[in-house]
Amino acid sequence: MITVRASILVIILAATATALVGSAPMQPGGDLKKTVHDIATQLRKAEKEKGDGKAAKDLAAKTGKKIEETTELMAMFKLRDKGGLGVGSPGALSMTRDGIEPLIREMARIVPPIVLKDIGALEDMGYMIAAMGLIVDAKGPPKAADAKGIKLWHEYAHETHVQGLAFAKVVASKDQAKIKLAAYKVNNACGGCHAFFK
Ligand code: HEC
Repeated sequence: MITVRASILVIILAATATALVGSAPMQPGGDLKKTVHDIATQLRKAEKEKGDGKAAKDLAAKTGKKIEETTELMAMFKLRDKGGLGVGSPGALSMTRDGIEPLIREMARIVPPIVLKDIGALEDMGYMIAAMGLIVDAKGPPKAADAKGIKLWHEYAHETHVQGLAFAKVVASKDQAKIKLAAYKVNNACGGCHAFFK
């Protein structure tokens, strides 16, 4: 009888623990990476099917509101081995290009021919940047931001979204000048917000 009660207790404790974990705020890394991928996939689908992207926007809004620190989000842009999303299959473009921020910066100056071998990876990167723009917009500025800061935050976040989508669309052209310009515009959207907030 005692062992039966004990095992019931174990089951109850396990169920409680699962419920608690399930309602915890979103942690950096795993969950967030998967969500960014999911939003990017929905944006791609909306683009191909000429949809309104509402599913992506709803999920991004929900995700952004759960983020407490902007650093958690921004970590997605770092090199894969520093906790970022990475670009394409791990290390395929070299370890130092396996991160959205370093690759966008490089491409804003010069498009290395190796990246044009995997247009799919570049497209994914564009949709992930666009997804991040939506999430960072929903996250909102630090509490101390004044009216000007709040306005700029949403403008640069929106610009990141728009330029991420534009980047995703232009890569199929394999036109280095156009791709470079698109990367430059993404980089400007990031840099605009950083100049004000970082
Ligand atoms: C709407 C504002 C905003 C936009 C847009 C934005 N960032 Fe950031 N980013 C921040 C802020 C704020 C920080 C500093 C966070 C902190 O340390 O508290 C930051 C930090 C970072 C960091 C450093 C993270 C760390 O852990 O040290 C990287 C990398 C980064 N951003 C990449 C990017 C890239 C790439 C883009 C564009 C594709 C971008 N950001 C767009 C606001 C923004």
